Amino acid sequence: MKLWGGRFEKDTDALVEDFHSSVSFDRRLYEQDIAGSIAHAAMLGRAGIITRAEAEQIIAGLETVRADIESGRAELAKSAEDIHMNVEKLLTERIGPVGKKLHTGRSRNDQVALDLRLFLRAETDKTMDLLAALTRTLLTLAEEHAETWAPGYTHLQKAQPITLGHHFMAYAAMFLRDLSRLSDARRRLNYSPLGSGALAGTTFPLRREETARDLGFAGLTLNSLDGVSDRDFALEFLSAAALVMMHLSRLAEEIILWASGEFDFISLDDAYATGSSIMPQKKNPDVAELVRGKTGRVYGDLFALLTVMKGLPLAYNKDLQEDKECVFDAVDTVQKCLLVTAPLLKTMTVRKDRLAAEAKKGFMNATDLADYLAKKQIPFREAHAIVGRLVLLCGQRGCALEDLPLTELQAAAAGIEADVYDAISVETCVRARRVPGGPAPEAVREAIRAARAELETMNKREDA
Ligand code: ARG
Repeated sequence: MKLWGGRFEKDTDALVEDFHSSVSFDRRLYEQDIAGSIAHAAMLGRAGIITRAEAEQIIAGLETVRADIESGRAELAKSAEDIHMNVEKLLTERIGPVGKKLHTGRSRNDQVALDLRLFLRAETDKTMDLLAALTRTLLTLAEEHAETWAPGYTHLQKAQPITLGHHFMAYAAMFLRDLSRLSDARRRLNYSPLGSGALAGTTFPLRREETARDLGFAGLTLNSLDGVSDRDFALEFLSAAALVMMHLSRLAEEIILWASGEFDFISLDDAYATGSSIMPQKKNPDVAELVRGKTGRVYGDLFALLTVMKGLPLAYNKDLQEDKECVFDAVDTVQKCLLVTAPLLKTMTVRKDRLAAEAKKGFMNATDLADYLAKKQIPFREAHAIVGRLVLLCGQRGCALEDLPLTELQAAAAGIEADVYDAISVETCVRARRVPGGPAPEAVREAIRAARAELETMNKREDA
């Protein structure tokens, strides 16, 4: 008979049993479920709602159930619906009728809300660790390439020269924001819903603060209806994960472009690239492509859960069972992508010669020539037009601005002197951009220091 079978006269239809059972996927919550049950049972004992001896028996029983699930000895039954009722059933099979007292003053509704919070708190921490590791990889690369001249783009057209270190630091900045989003979401997640009951709390004198403290929560949820039906905390994780994926996907896209013969800025390590079954010459950036592709799944997880939530009346509705697969899929996907991206970057070879050669092409020093003229008191708009005409001339000749002889430059603008060649060299163009947040080596090094300091403070978790 079902744990809830008292008022039923017929068995559940086999189709329904299969349709509503969630243990095939929510078994993943067994550790959290048992940890929550142990805290609940201990509190019931302390509060005198059950005897201390009963509480001890229940806790010992839960520990054996945990060991049996861990080792694969315990069989989880589809007919027992979900992980919560499976654990209770296994407990009662092991310790007898006293196991039936565990669920006093509790509902699966506050139980599952608790389990998912505990699960996501731990997974948020793991995700943050992986993000921090990837960020550190980027900082190391930025340091290594603080003086690697590289082309900077707008509209995927050459724009102004930068350093490759500066380019890497752009991604470090994105991932630092992602870290701060996750740590912010974690703070709001860390409240215990246990004691909300099915929807209306309970008449038993539960000591909510004690179970919250035992489980490492910062406090209690404020309202029992909200406590059982809120999934904002999961949506916050999913939206932070979606942003992480979007950032990873942009980085992956650049890796793919840079590894192409057309760009040829990097070459991927053999261990992080794949071949073709027909074209013998191929070395493909599949890893980066998969990261880009998997981004869609995580966006889907976010939208699936947002859509599940949008029309739900208070309080619990079975629709909420649909939260778990979205969360599990997003957790697995974002963590795997973070895990693989760090070594992908670490092992690739950067072709500095190619980057430096491309940094000299495409008139990327045109702005600097205009700035040079503006510093000689030619109004910038006029300087812009003069340099535009010079670019046109160079285009016709197939040469660069710095290839024009001084006399020709002077004919275009009287104030030009021999120092112009130095003023428009790639090195000067980049080194002079030392405004904070800029691409000059010293500005990049300063940004790396600031990023390291931020990583340090972010690593200190409030309950760690
Ligand atoms: N398996 C359910 C879920 O994941 C647990 C809560 C079920 N509560 C209920 N009243 N049916 O949401």
